[in-house]
Amino acid sequence: MAAPSVLDSVDIEGVDFAFEDHPTVHAVLADLRATKPYAVVPFAGVRAVLLLTNDLVAAAFKDEATFPASAIYPMTTGPVLGKTLQCMVGDEHRRSRALISPPFRRRQVAEYISPLLKPLAHELIDRFAARGSVDLVAEFTTRYPVLLISRLLGLPIEDESVVHRWAHDLFYLPLDPTAAKRASEEFTGFVGPIIAERRRGPGDDLISTLVTEDIEGETLDDEEVLSFLRLLFPAGADTTMLALGNTLSALLTHPDQMEILRSDLNAHAMWAIWEGLRWEPPVGLLPRVCPEATVWNGIDIPAATPMIFSINAALRDPAVFPDPDRFDITRGKQAQLAFGQGPHSCAGNWLALAELETALIALLERLPGLRFRDGAASRARVTSQVGVALRGPNELAVEWDL
Ligand code: HEM
Repeated sequence: MAAPSVLDSVDIEGVDFAFEDHPTVHAVLADLRATKPYAVVPFAGVRAVLLLTNDLVAAAFKDEATFPASAIYPMTTGPVLGKTLQCMVGDEHRRSRALISPPFRRRQVAEYISPLLKPLAHELIDRFAARGSVDLVAEFTTRYPVLLISRLLGLPIEDESVVHRWAHDLFYLPLDPTAAKRASEEFTGFVGPIIAERRRGPGDDLISTLVTEDIEGETLDDEEVLSFLRLLFPAGADTTMLALGNTLSALLTHPDQMEILRSDLNAHAMWAIWEGLRWEPPVGLLPRVCPEATVWNGIDIPAATPMIFSINAALRDPAVFPDPDRFDITRGKQAQLAFGQGPHSCAGNWLALAELETALIALLERLPGLRFRDGAASRARVTSQVGVALRGPNELAVEWDL
């Protein structure tokens, strides 16, 4: 007879955490957490251990030995993105991360990238400002991060929709393998020759930086540059797009908070972004795996158990965030897990924060009295995007005073 394990009983039925959005996901997670700090839930037809408290999720992110990213990403993204940072461990990961990180450090972002952000945000707003109404998801949040990354890389973009499709489909391997593989092939075919060209004659774009980077004799070969770029597109674009949508959705449904923000945009914008990331993090339920049998924080986990790091439950843990369901942009500085933690924590967090702050300020400056159109609030619900791992709104139909 098999030894008893945590997977013997399930804590919730009727919803599969791999694929189905639960309309009241925060309440479901809060109810589960009120019983114990983790739950056993249905996941892709099997059972997964879902970590629910801030302490457990933070500890799990830092414990690369027990829950290595390399045990899951080669399956969920490897076949289309290649061997990315997320598939690496130890020295190999440290070396590659050191090579790709410099352009994304806080100072570099402030000096070289920030000056590009405001003109880009205004350029997109110019396309619809005179109209008086727009769907911000269709015409702003989906376009801004993809265009930014394309410009940073110096990609000659003729058709914005194609680049956007790549950014989206590259993350879809588990759900739509055909689309993901097609995006990978098209992206590689487009970027491969550009990498070769930048090696011959580097410019001042990010691809040139990546191909000429030399840290103590270490450089990136073509496949390493390619797999980083394949990761950069979805990791940098989809997440930022959803984060902006989530914060806008939160502000539009909380007029009192919008009022505070408008009273001093420059003082409050970054806190509104920070609270938006806490309240509805775009990476909500992150799948991992526990390859070896272990007893971890008192949980008896069998080998090969699927794990879910519930970032969205951790960020509403009342032990850390008082009155956690309240969207409150005056909470101020408080460490949080929206960008992960530990060795694989987000390499683009400074870039993301700068992008989000600039976009929010530009939108509110240019679109006075920004509000939902009649009946649009219910369609702006934050919902699942890639399984339930990523979350954001599908539509933000707004109007403003002309
Ligand atoms: C609000 C926007 C963003 C959020 C919420 C976010 C969130 C995350 C999270 C949670 C992880 C950890 C994944 C894991 O441990 O499995 C991660 C990793 C990563 N992110 Fe972001 N991200 C955002 C924007 C960006 C941007 C703009 C870039 C582009 C530079 C980026 C690049 C990366 C990379 C390269 C990794 C992998 C790091 C590694 O494995 O060492 N992200 N991100």
